[in-house]
Amino acid sequence: MSGIRDLDAIKAEAMASIASATSNDDLNNIQIKYLGRKGVITSVLKSLKDLPIDQRKATGAAANKLKVYLDQEIKQAQQKFKVFGVKAGIDPTLPGIASRLGAIHPITQVIDDMCRAFHGMGFAIERGPEVETDYYNFEALNFPPDHPARDMQDTFYVEGDNLVLRTHTTPVQARVLENCKLPVKVITPGKTYRNEEISTRAYCVFHQVDGFLVDEGVTMADLKGVLVAFCRDFFGEGLSLRFRPSYFPFTEPSVEVDISCFLCGGKGCQLCKYAGWLEILGAGMIDPNVLKMAKIDPEKYSGYAFGIGVERVAMLKYGINDIRLFYENDIRFIRQFM
Ligand code: DAH
Repeated sequence: MSGIRDLDAIKAEAMASIASATSNDDLNNIQIKYLGRKGVITSVLKSLKDLPIDQRKATGAAANKLKVYLDQEIKQAQQKFKVFGVKAGIDPTLPGIASRLGAIHPITQVIDDMCRAFHGMGFAIERGPEVETDYYNFEALNFPPDHPARDMQDTFYVEGDNLVLRTHTTPVQARVLENCKLPVKVITPGKTYRNEEISTRAYCVFHQVDGFLVDEGVTMADLKGVLVAFCRDFFGEGLSLRFRPSYFPFTEPSVEVDISCFLCGGKGCQLCKYAGWLEILGAGMIDPNVLKMAKIDPEKYSGYAFGIGVERVAMLKYGINDIRLFYENDIRFIRQFM
């Protein structure tokens, strides 16, 4: 005996069958199963006479209504097959789901921008190994064994064979100088590693772009010219540069270079900690010892070199206050740089 409740169940079952039908044959079978001469609904209508009198009218009306409804649904599904020739359940008229485009990581973007700027000034691009020998990472750069400056570098040592994870990209300079024809003008972008305590400002892996030029008669003025041109290209016109004396084993004299704060123009703000200046790179004239070790005559040739910390520059440029954000792969962070 069937009542109104049974009709609800029949409807749900029939609709599920229609939704999962994959061909017109399926739909024909559904039509027969529910609406055919011996179909489910037909038998409900036939058995109305067995229902208590007070239920007959309502159940009959509901069964007839369901019959018309299912008939329409089946016809509509058949129509879809006819028009689109596709499986039921896939409605090609619905709006599509757009797939998101990937984005270039902000660090890669900054390195690309730097390479573009220096390439435009005639620098070639060279890369070297991240697992580096002690010789190129230190010795060829005038860090003798036991030199205290080695301690500044928080080195990750690789077991055996005097290998380290390079602590800077300057070893590529030593490699290039050993094998090049002079004059040479190169930048060396890449990853570097230091065993430092991780914080908002330091991470165990980061990136540098070193650059150098060796030729006859190169002076500090050449260094200044190239850095002014780069900084104005990268951070904006009208910047000033400030050279402060510093120390690196592989340059003499050595400087640290500040730019006037691009946010406040030097007046003092939170970004520059009210100093008006932002430290952005180390540089200097290549130490004659470094040239000698690469079999270049320091009486005839001189050169400048500089090294830029990519994360630092990216953080300043984009106002990012935690270096770890670059390495956490949080898509919400990365998407801001699309
Ligand atoms: N290698 C230095 C560092 O990692 C940065 C640097 C300073 C590179 C001066 C240079 C340079 O080429 O001339 O701290």
